[in-house]
Amino acid sequence: MSEIKNDYLWWQTGVVYQIYPRSFQDSNGDGIGDLQGILKRLDYLQWLGVDAVWISPIYPSPMADFGYDISDYIGIHPLFGSLDDFDRLIQEVHARKMKLILDLVPNHTSDQHPWFLESRSSRDNPKRDWYIWKNPRPDGGPPNNWLSVFGGSGWEWDEKTEQYYYHAFLKEQPDLNWRHPEVQQAMLNVMRFWLDRGVDGFRIDVMWHMIKDLQLRDNPVNPDYQNHMATYEQLLPVYSTDQPEVHEIVQKMRKLLDSYSDRMMIGEIYLPIQKLVTYYGIDGKGAHLPFNFQLISLPWEAKVIAAAIDQYEGALPANGWPNWVLGNHDQPRITSRVGIQQARVAAMLLLTLRGTPTIYYGDEIGMRDVPIPFQEVQDPQGLNMPDKNLSRDPARTPMQWDASLQAGFTEGKPWLRLDRAFQRTNVQLQKEDPYSMLLLYKRLIDLRHIEPSLTVGDYTPVCSDNQMLAFTRHAEGHPKFLIILNLSHRPCYFKPSTLTFTGTVVMATSPELEGSVVDENISLSGDEGVIIRITDTGL
Ligand code: NOJ
Repeated sequence: MSEIKNDYLWWQTGVVYQIYPRSFQDSNGDGIGDLQGILKRLDYLQWLGVDAVWISPIYPSPMADFGYDISDYIGIHPLFGSLDDFDRLIQEVHARKMKLILDLVPNHTSDQHPWFLESRSSRDNPKRDWYIWKNPRPDGGPPNNWLSVFGGSGWEWDEKTEQYYYHAFLKEQPDLNWRHPEVQQAMLNVMRFWLDRGVDGFRIDVMWHMIKDLQLRDNPVNPDYQNHMATYEQLLPVYSTDQPEVHEIVQKMRKLLDSYSDRMMIGEIYLPIQKLVTYYGIDGKGAHLPFNFQLISLPWEAKVIAAAIDQYEGALPANGWPNWVLGNHDQPRITSRVGIQQARVAAMLLLTLRGTPTIYYGDEIGMRDVPIPFQEVQDPQGLNMPDKNLSRDPARTPMQWDASLQAGFTEGKPWLRLDRAFQRTNVQLQKEDPYSMLLLYKRLIDLRHIEPSLTVGDYTPVCSDNQMLAFTRHAEGHPKFLIILNLSHRPCYFKPSTLTFTGTVVMATSPELEGSVVDENISLSGDEGVIIRITDTGL
């Protein structure tokens, strides 16, 4: 371990791995992954080299949105295990020098949460204002035009108390009223509960949704809406999300985290770069890592990606630590977006950029989106907008561990069907294959950890064109690395007119190049990427 890395914190030097717990490993044959299952696979994660594990929600929940509808913030859903299992898990994670990040969903609860049951019981219940209740418009319609992300109006009529409540997601997920001081205190107490149990951080669900316009003004029509888009995108959510007051809430959460040692929070935020970076907070007292989803949202084109990296680097506030993501449980998998060959290049990009990378479970073996027949669709987003191919199920299928029945995921019937190709694409086979995606990921992670320039070094753009992008990473006093990535399927030629250097290819997506000594004229095959250690340089 080099000294320079000691100046950085674990969430800066580490690699995060996201587990979707229903789909990672089942231990009791009910076809749904659980905490004991995760325990069983911790050695795998340690072998892979990841430093922190983020687990999507494991709390008690009616599962209307697969755990993102929480009915008890301080328990564990029996499907996943018990608090004892959780304590054991955290202990075992820590024993392996890894960290555990919990998913926290503070924007909304389940409609079965006792807070909401009380709130909806009468207009004068003390918890009435914990949620967003409003009278109908004079014509009886909803208070404003806000839409639900999952389709339809964002308002649900309550017969009994004759008011509407707001839900940014399902009607089973009523939004909390974060302007209410008791709500703030209640959620900070939830955070305390888990911090005291030893969790190292939180991934905060839909951070940018947490507080709404005080006047609840109508959102404007989106002039760029097209029919294939989700119905939610018909309006621009300028009054229902990203309100200035959200930063005060984030600051309060941060203050609590800072009262413990070495804890952190990641904010889930889908906003353009200039808005995103405001979530680092004034004086860096906001989220440690506002999730940067550009590699998910942008077209996979070298010039576009290169420009976005620089825009992001340029927009980061002083001391704002970057982060990068290729996939998560809400998005099509990288393999299905760019193809299996290009997914190797994407892995190299993710693990050589400056900033904390987050890997979505299964991406390390090149899992792809699995077609789920209509009658098997489970995701409410897919069910509510059936003609738009928006179901998130395809990216949530069971982890493919080996070629045995049900891929080693369960001894029962998996809750979502497995990829038909699991006998060819699985951890066990790929562990033995030096050219596999898994070994590519593992070697990239190892290299990133060993080389201070790749862990914490500066990022400098070198060049980009329609096919390729190139940049260097360098930490003072350590070897410099040049990374060249061909984001196209055709050969490309790196031939910068003003540079001269020699170097050695230390890693390549196609290993034939590894070990070769190169100068500034480098030809790459389609879908090829290389990491070059610079030995002699004008670079
Ligand atoms: C974002 C989560 O990632 C997604 O899975 C969920 O459906 C919504 N938030 C609502 O909680």
